[in-house]
Amino acid sequence: MGFVGGFESKEQVIPNVAVIGATGAVGEVFLRVAEQREFPIQELKLLATSRSAGKKIRFRGAEITVEETSAAALATSDIVFCSATSEASKKWGPIVRSLGTVMIDDGSAYRMDTNVPLVVPEVNGDDLEWHEGIVSIPNCTTTPMVLALHAMKSVATPVRVTAATYQAVTGSGTAAAAELREQIEALGSGEKIAVPKIYSRQIAMNVLPQVDDFDESGYTIEEIKMRNETRKILHQPGLPVAATCVRVPTMVGHAEVVHVEFDHTIELEALYSALSEQTGISISTNPESYATPLESEGNDLTYVGRFRLDPTVPENRGVVFWCVSDNLRKGAATNAIQIAEELIERDLL
Ligand SMILES: NC(=O)c1ccc[n+]([C@@H]2O[C@H](COP(=O)([O-])OP(=O)(O)OC[C@H]3O[C@@H](n4cnc5c(N)ncnc54)[C@H](OP(=O)(O)O)[C@@H]3O)[C@@H](O)[C@H]2O)c1
Repeated sequence: MGFVGGFESKEQVIPNVAVIGATGAVGEVFLRVAEQREFPIQELKLLATSRSAGKKIRFRGAEITVEETSAAALATSDIVFCSATSEASKKWGPIVRSLGTVMIDDGSAYRMDTNVPLVVPEVNGDDLEWHEGIVSIPNCTTTPMVLALHAMKSVATPVRVTAATYQAVTGSGTAAAAELREQIEALGSGEKIAVPKIYSRQIAMNVLPQVDDFDESGYTIEEIKMRNETRKILHQPGLPVAATCVRVPTMVGHAEVVHVEFDHTIELEALYSALSEQTGISISTNPESYATPLESEGNDLTYVGRFRLDPTVPENRGVVFWCVSDNLRKGAATNAIQIAEELIERDLL
């Protein structure tokens, strides 16, 4: 089966690719992004559980049958994208590694492992150089924030970060999107809303100050991920980061309000200039022309805006801003494909 993409050069590696979780919210977007970016693929295997085995999915005009994930199905791959569950990552990661293949993992299973790079290519692509067969992508709230912080670091070093998030339901997968749709339909037709299965409370017409489970400190796992992942990606292991992650009834696009304290006085114009030069960022300096989750949906940019000096931080060392990006694309699928492109470019497969 030949699915050669848009790379013409003879020296270009054209990998065999497997996607674990091809039927999920991220998996589906992954295939569309691969088509749009003309990511080169020789042979493509679409994998999931026995629940979805036999399903047909179209890719570049061909119909591919989904298979149950197995070592045999992974054996011929050069790159495995895993966008399933932590259990699946933990089961298949060591097998992929032992096959000499590279796994790019969307989940949290390996993100904090010291021998696994956690990468946003525009920020720390060089960390790919020390991969040992597994590369993780960050949580979909971490990625847009670190992209902005990375750009700002060329002006001043962040010494404290606080954030509040407004996260869309597709961040919890296809079942959560279905739950929101069902609740909206029930409300529209005056029916009783069924007991929620994905979230602890009704999500339609509501917001939930909880993303994932709580730990003993009172923070949620999502909030702890934002702290730890930001430190790892920015190479600032002691950076104080406090987040409050909130689920809101939007379908796609995670938004955040971020407060940053810097090591020295900053001017907004200098931050604007640094952010304008950052690949992957679209900046608005007009407070009224902010982007919303709806505008972020379907593209790969992180939109930043609503910049203000933070009067609670002395000496003009603080800034507050808004950012939003498509959680399924730059927050997951696009970042994973960019990592694969970078691995090919750097001859690291
Ligand atoms: N959604 C986001 O915005 C986002 C962003 C960044 C990272 N992620 C991460 O990406 C991963 C997938 O998220 P999602 O939102 O796409 O979830 P989802 O919509 O629930 O899809 C899960 C996918 O994984 C497959 N799967 C489940 N258990 C499996 C197993 N044991 N072996 C192989 N395949 C298995 C499912 O297959 P079946 O069809 O057979 O059930 C389905 O294809 C998660 O780790 C998530 O944390 C998600």
